[in-house]
Amino acid sequence: MEEKKPISGKLSQKAVQTLLSSAFQAKERAYAPYSLFRVGSALLDEHGHTHLGCNVENAAYSPSNCAERTAMFRAIADGVRPGGFQALAVVADTAEPVTPCGVCRQVMAELCPPDMIVFMANKAGSYVETTVAELLPGAFGAKILHSHADDVKKGENT
Ligand code: THU
Repeated sequence: MEEKKPISGKLSQKAVQTLLSSAFQAKERAYAPYSLFRVGSALLDEHGHTHLGCNVENAAYSPSNCAERTAMFRAIADGVRPGGFQALAVVADTAEPVTPCGVCRQVMAELCPPDMIVFMANKAGSYVETTVAELLPGAFGAKILHSHADDVKKGENT
């Protein structure tokens, strides 16, 4: 029987460790005085550059930003085009690997390729891996908005 290859096979083990270690460094910059839950993220772009993110909280709570979104927004602001990413790592000081929240999954679905690898690590650096599409099956996206806009233009749907 053919064995299912781990998806991280696309990246060398050294590259995975480097990405995780960058995410741990980013976690040190977390501003999380309310939850005390520090999260770090590292996003590898198609050119091999790494973009760091940490969670940045706010006294009004809802303006808080997760580590993953910080990394993605930073990368876009630094000139990476949507889709131009190859892997993302997220780490926290937890016993179990930390998993991205729903809002971050939606942003990943918009900005990252569906088959992009996501590494989720615990405080010891043990990680599990998945993909953007696995994290948010059936994501709402541009396709349905565009097809609806076309229908409206044709007068089929007002
Ligand atoms: N948080 C992240 O930064 N990433 C995740 O994947 C889960 C949650 C942040 C948001 C908030 O600052 C704190 O962790 C507690 O929810």
